[in-house]
Amino acid sequence: MTLQPNEPLSNLRDEAAAKLKLHFDHDQPLSAAAPGRVNLIGEHIDYCDGFVLPLAIERYIVVAAALNGRNEVRLRSENQPEAVISLEEKMTLSEPKWANYIRGVIHGFQERGHTIPGFDACFVSNVPTGGGLSSSAALECAVATLLEALLDTTLPTKEKALLAQKAEHDFAGVPCGIMDQFASAFGQKDHLVLIDCQNGEPEMVPFNNPELEIIIANTCVSHDLSDGGYAARRKDTEDGLAAVNKQSWRDVTMAEVEAAKEAMGDRVFRRSRHVVSEIERTAVAAECFKTSDYANIGQLMKASHDSLRDDFEVSCPELDLMVSIAEEIGLEGGVLGSRMTGGGFGGSTVTLCRKDKARDIATIMHEKYQEKTSITPEIFSTRPAQGAHQL
Ligand code: GLA
Repeated sequence: MTLQPNEPLSNLRDEAAAKLKLHFDHDQPLSAAAPGRVNLIGEHIDYCDGFVLPLAIERYIVVAAALNGRNEVRLRSENQPEAVISLEEKMTLSEPKWANYIRGVIHGFQERGHTIPGFDACFVSNVPTGGGLSSSAALECAVATLLEALLDTTLPTKEKALLAQKAEHDFAGVPCGIMDQFASAFGQKDHLVLIDCQNGEPEMVPFNNPELEIIIANTCVSHDLSDGGYAARRKDTEDGLAAVNKQSWRDVTMAEVEAAKEAMGDRVFRRSRHVVSEIERTAVAAECFKTSDYANIGQLMKASHDSLRDDFEVSCPELDLMVSIAEEIGLEGGVLGSRMTGGGFGGSTVTLCRKDKARDIATIMHEKYQEKTSITPEIFSTRPAQGAHQL
């Protein structure tokens, strides 16, 4: 099956509840779900005051939980070691590592004055891990939504997303921007989440044309560089901003970047060129989506990919190959545009296409990619999905 189906959320909910019964003998759990995300355009500029245009995808992490009357949290997740978090001590980084995301979210609620009761929880997921689709943001947002249910409280959505982002910074050590957690928290069915990262306010852009579909192709490679590479890119953009002597990238023009080329040095110059051009491209693309004018989207997505590959250097041969296969299929074959998505160094591509051609496109991408790399990719389609919610 080259275009993998998206399992209904109710299946994941039932599976998580069955696991909670099996491992901890709880009936009638509280459950929460949070989706992964894919970004259509606006890459590596959420931490540069730019615009980003992601959507929540029809792939979720679901957690089922129940109070356990103890002073600890007991966690189970497929293919992960069992974890126990003591609520008697301050939350700190510990083993197993996957539980740090949960420790980080618990810490965020404790910082806001909440007393966390002991609970047992089981997680199930169909968000690919390491696929550049923000499974970690989905985990954070699912846990935050679960804690809202357990504590019978509701955080404003923006605060919940920021709490999740802080968990990622402090407990996973990734200095990420706000895109992933905002997309997972704010996502809405049939809408893109346009985020102005300067003021941190999302705007819902309708995406309800029934003739369009979004294909996500996970290259199933993840290059080692990722963590250090992300922080290094972020540092380069800070150096670039300092070189043009501005407070925000939103006030920087390409002419100013060009003028500072010598002071920046070649690498920082190219990083800066990506930032300024990507902010411009994303603003134009957002207008195109708002007015359902899809004619220029392909060009913008292509320019974004090229810039990420050549100037920002976060692509890799497998992503380039997957994008070039989609580009070869072209408009005639139903492809409107394709590019790498997310942090890069592996992970997934996003392809905007005609719905009636999605299956054929996925088949070609699957076959050609596999033929050239001997790697079996994971390809599925999605429509914009609902963000984190209780089930
Ligand atoms: C990762 C980060 C995001 C964003 C993207 C690149 O997904 O978590 O904040 O910076 O990379 O656009």
